[in-house]
Amino acid sequence: MIAAAVFASGSGSNAEAIVLASLPCSIELVVCDKPEAPVIQKAKNWNTEVFVCDPKTFPDKQAYEQAILLKLQEKQIKWIFLAGYMRLIGPTLLEAYQARIVNIHPSLLPAFAGKDAIGQALAAGVKVSGVTIHYVDAGMDTGSIIAQEAVAVRESDTHETLHQRIQAVEHKLYPKTIDYILTEQDGKE
Ligand code: GRF
Repeated sequence: MIAAAVFASGSGSNAEAIVLASLPCSIELVVCDKPEAPVIQKAKNWNTEVFVCDPKTFPDKQAYEQAILLKLQEKQIKWIFLAGYMRLIGPTLLEAYQARIVNIHPSLLPAFAGKDAIGQALAAGVKVSGVTIHYVDAGMDTGSIIAQEAVAVRESDTHETLHQRIQAVEHKLYPKTIDYILTEQDGKE
């Protein structure tokens, strides 16, 4: 079974959807950069090892990512799935995991990249937003797109209601796309 890691900084609902899905990989590690993040307790409930790595305790980003890399290598992790991980991936991890880091973003990229994509969509008054799953490169939400699904924006939507409908799509689309990547792409190597 392919070993994979999920990186998360927050509530971990996408991490949960991935861990609980039946996939051709096993999530051997959750990496979290925020010592108080709710995902840490969730991972304990799934019996998944959590590596809490606070960047503030390292001299620089390279040292921080090097510590993560060591842990990933120790666990023989082959794929990284970012699920609400609120940091840009630097060269240390990008070079070690070329084309093997995937992210989920709550908009139809390239629209509304960066923070608070849902707030950005509401402020722009678009009628359709959605979810994008993409490979990670050095930019902010700029890597090549693997899958997208649209979500209609309603007149009555608040940040919370749109967020809920987008997350419902995310929780299905992320596991489905990981399944696709690992069977269609990784399987051919
Ligand atoms: C998701 O909406 C994801 O698209 C974005 O961050 C959010 C994480 O939510 N990158 P959760 O922690 O998985 O609930």
